[in-house]
Amino acid sequence: MKEIGIALLGLGNVGLGTYRILANHAKDIERRLGARVRVRHVLVRNAGKSRPEDVPASLITHDMKTILEDKDVSVVVELMGGLSPSREYLEQAIASGRNVVTANKALLSAHGEALYSKALARGVDVHFEGAVCGGIPIIRTLREALASDRVESLTGIVNGTTNFILSAMANEGASYADALRRAQELGYAEADPTLDVSGMDAAQKLCLLASLAFSARVSPESILVEGITSLTPTDIAYGREAGYVLKLLATARRAPEGLDVRVHPAFIPAASPLADVSSAFNAVLLQSAALGASLYSGRGAGDLPTGSAVVSDIIDTCRNLLAGVSGRLPLPCPPHVHDVPLLSSGERRGPVYLRFSVSDEPGVLGRIASVLGEKGVSINSVLQRPPRPADSHATIVVFTHDTREADVAAAVQWIDSLRSTRAPTQVIRIEEGPGVLLASR
Ligand code: HSE
Repeated sequence: MKEIGIALLGLGNVGLGTYRILANHAKDIERRLGARVRVRHVLVRNAGKSRPEDVPASLITHDMKTILEDKDVSVVVELMGGLSPSREYLEQAIASGRNVVTANKALLSAHGEALYSKALARGVDVHFEGAVCGGIPIIRTLREALASDRVESLTGIVNGTTNFILSAMANEGASYADALRRAQELGYAEADPTLDVSGMDAAQKLCLLASLAFSARVSPESILVEGITSLTPTDIAYGREAGYVLKLLATARRAPEGLDVRVHPAFIPAASPLADVSSAFNAVLLQSAALGASLYSGRGAGDLPTGSAVVSDIIDTCRNLLAGVSGRLPLPCPPHVHDVPLLSSGERRGPVYLRFSVSDEPGVLGRIASVLGEKGVSINSVLQRPPRPADSHATIVVFTHDTREADVAAAVQWIDSLRSTRAPTQVIRIEEGPGVLLASR
């Protein structure tokens, strides 16, 4: 039986998950591939760290040169994370004619185009299913299954850590800090969890998905990105009273004025299938011209889920090697992606939730209503709760009709400058259009 040699760079959470799937599913993989995949080297950076017993010490190396000089290594699998030295190692692997697999969304987000272009020029493949939504085959779906279709919108829960935190806050009344600590212990969070809670990890993944779905060049720096750090159990509870669930949504959709791409918390109807996606699960809801609505969901983080996506990529790239082909699938770099106009976030229209913290005195509600009216923000419903004995302020919650985002921002800025306003107003967008519903046609 033919043998294909591979090298793993990194033996962290995902690296070990990948190694174990390759070992535990070796017979199945052999049958499906018609060849044996052999791990020839595992590169680790920290020489002093103890290794799991199931990874033979003879595979461990600290030197990328060992891998590059081994002519029997055909595939280099980067699972180290971070930008450096993973970028340099992948460039060296590509330059030496190796096919590469990576799950490094931060690297692809920052330097993907340059890497893909180098791979195209060298005639090797880059696979990256593990970079987005862990084990869910969403990259494959966009590149292959829906190559026939035209995606109109893509709405996802693509960060497991924030979804775990929001689910724990909503379902168990957990505090934000406690839920984040648990997500870290379970291995969902990035080494720097700021990337998760700021929305940046979701933005990196969304831009990768958008480049495949819309052949568009989009970067996290060019889109609206808001995280979950200002959300409170109070907001979750008020939203629930109105029939909503709070999620960190990553959205990209075609609009007449341009592509609307953004990451921010949003209330979605409890009836949306995305509302049921809890804990570290991820999901992406696509609307496409021919298929209509389709939903992809599963575990979005963790060693084995992400490892399974990585191993699928290894099998795919081995299939190409056995067939003697490369470049079968377009990579998201020129000529396959181009610059497109992006919708400015202020021009987005939709309903919003506003929570005002105000002094409990006559005329306050009236002043808020007149500022909103002045700025063209139409009120759909209002809730007011009397202050609890411990509170220094009253809370007024307003749900608006569809409104231009720039008008809401202007109204909130004005209201926050009033003497009666005691704390900055909480603004949460509401998404209840076809992008979050399964039956749209
Ligand atoms: N930190 C990421 C998440 C890991 O929580 O989704 C998977 O990309």
